[in-house]
Amino acid sequence: MLDVRGLRKVYEGSGRRVEAVRDLTFTVDPGDLVCLVGPSGCGKTTLLKCMAGLLEPTGGEVLLEGRRVDGPPPGTAFVFQEYGRSLFPWMRVGENVELPLRQKDMSKAERRALVRDALESVGLADAAGAYPWQLSGGMQQRVAIARALAYEPRVLLMDEPFAAVDAQTRADLEDLVRGLWRQRGITILFVTHDIDEAVYLGERVIVLSASPTVVREQLTVDLPAERDQLHTRVDPRFAGLRTRVYEQIQAAKRGEVRDALTKSSTPPPR
Ligand SMILES: Nc1ncnc2c1ncn2[C@@H]1O[C@H](COP(=O)(O)OP(=O)(O)O)[C@@H](O)[C@H]1O
Ligand SMILES: [Mg+2]
Repeated sequence: MLDVRGLRKVYEGSGRRVEAVRDLTFTVDPGDLVCLVGPSGCGKTTLLKCMAGLLEPTGGEVLLEGRRVDGPPPGTAFVFQEYGRSLFPWMRVGENVELPLRQKDMSKAERRALVRDALESVGLADAAGAYPWQLSGGMQQRVAIARALAYEPRVLLMDEPFAAVDAQTRADLEDLVRGLWRQRGITILFVTHDIDEAVYLGERVIVLSASPTVVREQLTVDLPAERDQLHTRVDPRFAGLRTRVYEQIQAAKRGEVRDALTKSSTPPPR
């Protein structure tokens, strides 16, 4: 579904040169839920922007269903970290959710139905007439998710979407994402710097090195599909996986290059 091949991104300008991403190669299968985790500043947002066609790579390429991405691809939706900046404050919630649908060829009634369905999916059926600033941070992020869902994407790219909400809301939103993924069969790439979140959410976790970034490790999360905040997080298997990812991130921060280029997709031994 998604194919990242030898992706490299160097920022240049104002006398500064930053090699944010050195060499990233990985794939995401249709219907997969992959979490990308890596230290702050390692180029996660840069990578997602390249995948979303918002930023041109310096080298390598991103393929979506076999086609090279060179602009925002149809069928792909994004949820950004800063919900505060991603919703239009002068538009009601329903209008915000409806906005991307205006470029689709469909009747007003069809659009309305999608908006209603998406808001219902995120538990905000009653909020269509409110303004974003009348809602809590967690609710605003739900609206951003609803807007992405209404668009009926095949691929959903999420960039640290819950970094700015409180822990309880975050747990709810994590369950919401897993629930939607299971219901709708969307392919999701979820970026986070939070190790627990990556293991709890993902079917697979890709660990990135510190910048200049390469793929450090890929882990299959062999936890049951049915997860819940109470039991999954105390499962010894969960602890084993999070320790493994934690060690990789620590090593990445120390700048160890050992193993950095070997990409195993086997889970660690039990
Ligand atoms: N527009 C830009 N111009 C120059 N450097 C940038 C730009 N955007 C990001 N960077 C740099 O690229 C690196 C990766 O940034 P980013 O992709 O935001 O990382 P992350 O999302 O993992 O925190 C950082 O060193 C950052 O300072
Ligand atoms: Mg970022």
